[in-house]
Amino acid sequence: LPVPSVQAMVAATGGADVPPRYLRPAEAVAGDSEAHIPIIDYQRLLLELELDRHGEESARLHGACQDWGFFQLVNHSVPDDVVESMKANIQQFFQLPAETKKRFAQEEGQLEGYGQLFVVSDDQKLDWADMLFLYAQPPERRKTRFWPDQPATFRSTLDRYSGALKDVSDSLLATMAKNLGLKRETIAEKCTRGMQSFRMNYYPPCAQAEKVIGLSPHSDANLLTLVLQVNHVQGLQIKRNGSWLPVKPVPGAFIVNIGDMLEVFTNGRYRSIEHRAVVDPKEERLSVAAFHFPDMDAMIGPLEELTAHEDDAYKTLDLESFMKIFFATKLEGKSFLDRMKLN
Ligand code: SIN
Ligand code: FE2
Repeated sequence: LPVPSVQAMVAATGGADVPPRYLRPAEAVAGDSEAHIPIIDYQRLLLELELDRHGEESARLHGACQDWGFFQLVNHSVPDDVVESMKANIQQFFQLPAETKKRFAQEEGQLEGYGQLFVVSDDQKLDWADMLFLYAQPPERRKTRFWPDQPATFRSTLDRYSGALKDVSDSLLATMAKNLGLKRETIAEKCTRGMQSFRMNYYPPCAQAEKVIGLSPHSDANLLTLVLQVNHVQGLQIKRNGSWLPVKPVPGAFIVNIGDMLEVFTNGRYRSIEHRAVVDPKEERLSVAAFHFPDMDAMIGPLEELTAHEDDAYKTLDLESFMKIFFATKLEGKSFLDRMKLN
């Protein structure tokens, strides 16, 4: 189901006319109050992890995972030059001529490559965005034919960025295990060859911005997502107590969120949260989301250590079956997880 590039459409028409496939029924407008999601200091977390201490920062992380499902990670230790180079490379990639970008286009029915997200039917409403989707870990999963060779530094930059973010994700999961009263290896041993994928988003401006959606409401399927805001344009919103609340990124921070698989692992102690992205009337917006998964052959179900004194709230499935159901119900927001519930 090939879908046109939104960027090319806006370039050709100026973006004043929005084709019907992109027009949404009056979406719940975001509230004025922004979501003050917790801010977590990574260096403090690491120190507490090394000292095996239940310190203040670990406690704040636990609260963020239980109450919000979202937090901003500051002092994250990924070198500035790696982050800045990732930003520059993805901006330059989307500025390339359409024919050049098409060399990395998705193949039919596949997610990987340059194109669009989750187009499953001809009458589905479409997101006002283009994207580049790549697998990065474990390294043998990389299909380098989809990794842009322009700009020339793209591949080496993504390689470094990927490794650095995997380390951050592993340390966060270790702290979460500790916070849940588990051995720090309990989650890690399901992630020794943990999968990591990237979705790099390009949201063109839209003159009728309030009538389109950049990224439809969803929760993430994976364990942990780390999102990098590439430019100064805001767009991420989270659903909290029934309202859509904009998130204001702290400069230099990663926005981290809990995915469905971590909700299942923790038997519901941690929650994935529905979120979406809106677009700006005048300016393009870019973001880079890094998704961290368990090993391909891991079973996705409540951890035994957490269910010794309580019932499993979710089914246990292999990762592939889990993902199949996830994609099949993708257009229904977070309702997917209800299908995983046992009661
Ligand atoms: C998301 O990954 O769901 C949001 C990405 C963004 O903020 O653009
Ligand atoms: Fe997401």
